[in-house]
Amino acid sequence: MIKGSRCLVTGGAGFIGRHLVDELLTRGADEIVILDSLRAGRDVAIATSARCKHLTFQLSRNCLPALRPHLDGVDYVFHLAAVKHAHALQDPDAALDANIDGTYCLARAAGEAGIERMVFASSLYVYGRMQGPAFSETETPSPSTIYGISKLAGEHLLRHCASRYGLAYNALRYFFTYGPGYSAGTGYSSVITRTCERLLLGQPPVINGDGAQVFDYLYVGDVVDATIVAAESAAVNDVFNVGSGSGTSIADLVSVIATIAGRHLPAIYGERDETFGSSRVADIRKAAERLPWRPRTSLIEGVTMTYESLTSQRKQATGDR
Ligand SMILES: NC(=O)c1ccc[n+]([C@@H]2O[C@H](COP(=O)([O-])OP(=O)(O)OC[C@H]3O[C@@H](n4cnc5c(N)ncnc54)[C@H](O)[C@@H]3O)[C@@H](O)[C@H]2O)c1
Repeated sequence: MIKGSRCLVTGGAGFIGRHLVDELLTRGADEIVILDSLRAGRDVAIATSARCKHLTFQLSRNCLPALRPHLDGVDYVFHLAAVKHAHALQDPDAALDANIDGTYCLARAAGEAGIERMVFASSLYVYGRMQGPAFSETETPSPSTIYGISKLAGEHLLRHCASRYGLAYNALRYFFTYGPGYSAGTGYSSVITRTCERLLLGQPPVINGDGAQVFDYLYVGDVVDATIVAAESAAVNDVFNVGSGSGTSIADLVSVIATIAGRHLPAIYGERDETFGSSRVADIRKAAERLPWRPRTSLIEGVTMTYESLTSQRKQATGDR
């Protein structure tokens, strides 16, 4: 299985990718090729192990000839590289190029090379809806964002490469992933990091709208675990939700973070945004039954680890003891 294997991790310099590489090293992977365009100018010094190789490469249209040799001898491909939602809003062409054309080239190269298994980081954005009951893999996806459409296209392309090139894969629809090392961007995945950072600076948390919007937050360690289970599982060529299976409103989330931080500052309520009245929660019964996989980290445990990591980073940056 993973122990003694050769792995290729695309997006291995990103937030989830870095955690995945660390865990693959812990589980005894023999060699890990970290493929990343380093779009954000990231420093990949994180993986300094002699078992890691860095490949600066941009997955895109027509990259197949250059990519194909890097798949020789690879057992597992973990495909996490993507242009994400916030960036896709600004640059839809880049998202289509990386997430659709790039995914096709990689899946085809992996199929032709006869790898053991490819795991694809899909997204809850494939569902498209913002309200209603928990998302189930049995419902017909209806994304309207370029990002969601590109992720759904990625799933379809993997199915195509399975039938045409014999690729074995699993696609995981990750929900809102958080944990140490996530940078405080603008999206709702980064609310936890953003709120922790504000509280550390003695600033009040910011809530858009009434704070009743509900998200499914999953700790990055559990996402990594699901990703590795999906590589080793007897279940194959399928799609699975990867979430906590329960929803948390932003108001409750902020209150949990404040309790962990020991700082109860009254929140600033900003304008409503597109998430007003929304609820996006995963039904994880399929993953629990068939992979099988279940999350192990509670929200309190995960937020505590995130807060502690940010606290120690801040101490290092300021030279505090
Ligand atoms: N973070 C979340 O909450 C979340 C939720 C659902 C799905 N996902 C998916 O999980 C995966 C990892 O997410 P993340 O939060 O670690 O993202 P991230 O932005 O931190 O990492 C993505 C990495 O991919 C690289 N990349 C982008 N385009 C590339 C290209 N064309 N070729 C090669 N490398 C490229 C970037 O340089 C970056 O290092 C992504 O596919 C994302 O769509 C994430």
